[in-house]
Amino acid sequence: MISHEQLHDVMQTRRSVRRFRPDAPSRAIIESVLASAVTAPSASNKQPWRFLVVRNRDVIDRIAAAVRTAVERIAMAIDPEFEPSFRAYGDYFTRFEHAPVVIVPLSRSLTILSNLTGGRLARDDADRITAMERESGLRA
Ligand SMILES: Cc1cc2nc3c(=O)[nH]c(=O)nc-3n(C[C@H](O)[C@H](O)[C@H](O)COP(=O)(O)O)c2cc1C
Repeated sequence: MISHEQLHDVMQTRRSVRRFRPDAPSRAIIESVLASAVTAPSASNKQPWRFLVVRNRDVIDRIAAAVRTAVERIAMAIDPEFEPSFRAYGDYFTRFEHAPVVIVPLSRSLTILSNLTGGRLARDDADRITAMERESGLRA
């Protein structure tokens, strides 16, 4: 058991890492990290997540390339005045590409209420429920 002070220190010193050592962590470490991650609470305890552990350099490169393409599409739709700053921001979206392992978290929407109510709710309520269900998966 760790103390409140130790937990506080861990939380205070956590930071986003954007430069990575080239050596990949062992499978045991990755499994241990994921075992911690899945202790997170989820709506109705559905645990609506899966994790893709990507070690293949070619696949990581292709994911980064797909993100760059999406950034490019968005940049084309941005007011030219803000395009340079958007591109600088978008550069952060691919910082993962030099990591030796990339973990892609997947979540699915929980559609319990939509399923139970079918098409019988007023449009506004149905829309709110759909939005909430989409988000509840993401926050799980
Ligand atoms: C939902 C979410 C998405 C993020 N996406 C990126 C990202 O694409 N690229 C990146 O470099 N950092 C990303 N970050 C990290 C934030 O920029 C970072 O948490 C914030 O600047 C605070 O810095 P810190 O985590 O070091 O305290 C993301 C953080 C969150 C919570």
